[in-house]
Amino acid sequence: MKLTTFFNHYAFLLSIILFTILPVKSQINNVLTFNETTKGGNLPRVFAMDKFDDNTIIVHTIRRNSIPTQDRICVDDLFTFHAIFPDGKSKAVVIKLPVQAINYCIYDVNKILYNPIKIYTMRTNFILVTYTEAEDETNVNTYMEYAIIIDLGGKIHGKILLGPSFVDVENRWIPNKAKIKLNVNREKGFVRVGPITNTTNALLQQFVV
Ligand SMILES: *[C@@H]1O[C@H](CO)[C@@H](O)[C@H](O)[C@H]1NC(C)=O
Ligand SMILES: *[C@@H]1O[C@H](CO)[C@@H](O)[C@H](O)[C@H]1NC(C)=O
Repeated sequence: MKLTTFFNHYAFLLSIILFTILPVKSQINNVLTFNETTKGGNLPRVFAMDKFDDNTIIVHTIRRNSIPTQDRICVDDLFTFHAIFPDGKSKAVVIKLPVQAINYCIYDVNKILYNPIKIYTMRTNFILVTYTEAEDETNVNTYMEYAIIIDLGGKIHGKILLGPSFVDVENRWIPNKAKIKLNVNREKGFVRVGPITNTTNALLQQFVV
């Protein structure tokens, strides 16, 4: 998938959320509008969505950076999400995460796009945000994945070391290759399962947060 197609695809998704999911709750014609407070730059696009048990939806948006980088596609270095509550109200959170610039690019590996920053809803009002820390940015084998816990006010509550980020046989970094699945009882944390670099093994970890 080319990135332009990707962006168009997600812009389309954004309209779907705004125009079809919300009315399901109660009244028809309930169109949600929110104004982006970050001025300038490219239009925001929906990168991912997740929801809480109470049906509050979290929408992770990105904006392609205004000065395009040549070798890869990068986005503005702000982490932005919108919380859409069951009553139709919404709230935008824009924060500067304490992470390296490598996290603000989208990596195309065999036509699959990977964003080092990925969101997961946890227990009510808390989201888990994964990212990568490189000890040496030029050596992908030093990349470690972490997660931080953020509340819906944008406050950071903790940082968890998840493990080494995956590197494929061609020495390409594949961020967020491991899958993260919340425990059925969300208070009990999550499980992370992913392949281990240079082996045919997978690693399964249980995190209690
Ligand atoms: C967004 O901004 C426009 C122009 O400033 C204003 O007319 C509109 O009411 C705003 N909408 C919301 C939802 O704040
Ligand atoms: C994987 O193998 C390559 C090549 O032998 C090596 O450079 C790299 O450090 C290894 N990575 C890990 C995480 O063991």
